[in-house]
Amino acid sequence: MMNTEAVTPETLDWENLGFSYIKTDYRYVSYWKDGEWDEGELTRDNQVHISEGSTALHYGQSCFEGMKAYRAADGSINLFRPYENAERMKRSCERLLMPAFPVERFVEAVRETVEANEQWVPPYGTGSTLYIRPYMIGVGDNIGVRAAPEYLFAIFVTPVGPYFKGGLTPSNFVVTQYDRAAPYGTGASKVGGNYGGSLLPGTEAKKRNFSDAIYLDPATHTKIEEVGSANFFGITHDDKFITPKSPSILPSITKYSLMYLAEHRLGLTVEEGDVYVDQLDRFKEAGACGTAAVISPIGGIQYGDDFHVFYSETEVGPVTKRLYNELIGIQYGDIAAPENWVVKV
Ligand SMILES: Cc1ncc(COP(=O)(O)O)c(C=O)c1O
Repeated sequence: MMNTEAVTPETLDWENLGFSYIKTDYRYVSYWKDGEWDEGELTRDNQVHISEGSTALHYGQSCFEGMKAYRAADGSINLFRPYENAERMKRSCERLLMPAFPVERFVEAVRETVEANEQWVPPYGTGSTLYIRPYMIGVGDNIGVRAAPEYLFAIFVTPVGPYFKGGLTPSNFVVTQYDRAAPYGTGASKVGGNYGGSLLPGTEAKKRNFSDAIYLDPATHTKIEEVGSANFFGITHDDKFITPKSPSILPSITKYSLMYLAEHRLGLTVEEGDVYVDQLDRFKEAGACGTAAVISPIGGIQYGDDFHVFYSETEVGPVTKRLYNELIGIQYGDIAAPENWVVKV
């Protein structure tokens, strides 16, 4: 295993980063106790020391966010729609009966943490970014199944490359029979438990040489919901951008951004609706989208004995490519962003 303590910004090979933890200099921490958040601070200590009774350890009272900082060509640093992450985390907190971290403070704390680790933000043009991980856990002495008496909100950052190997090279996915969420469960919240349950199907998929597992809707097992930890989209033969709609899908900020760009910049019709897994031939292209995945073109999908190929197993399709260029152009500051999408650090 890599000794992450030994890695420095001077020795990092920015162009060949994977998606793994590298210890950076500072992280932000704030504690909630007696009904309020303390003022929060940056610390160099990357260890968390908590009570053995913490609800996060036993009852899954834990939620998180995933966002990125992008180095622009002029050396400045961009955040992409950070208020959306703050709002989504607030909703995750409400679902788990945790005290939300105020939205303005969330964005300010993200900014502070990135600024303190400025030298870890990968240079423009390397294809790498600084991944930002805000999280909240229930802590404090407790034993019964109830909301924790105290909470920790923290943010750490780590430089990353592509989440799925190959970047814009298509990869293949396999439909799993496991569910990641229940119909009226926590699928729409970014809570730890959803991911614990995804480890087995994800690992089984990778063992079979697929990039990840595709989850169907938990009620009927007929419709595509999520692609690993990314949302699904497909482009129909008559140029419609279609993406699943379901209360058990995580509302992806990337997905909603792509819906806007598909409509307003590419002139496509956009629709959230059912994506039946046995009707994939309506799509000429398909992809997985998310902060970590960016846009990962889907080459093919294995469903039982059927293997359905979309545009190509080796080449990205033209519409997916245009969406990708538009999205990352905006994130890196090369293309004008819709109002309030890019926030400077
Ligand atoms: C289950 C799941 N779906 C979708 C996404 C993509 O969401 P976003 O675009 O907001 O990163 C993520 C990652 O955050 C995820 O974990």
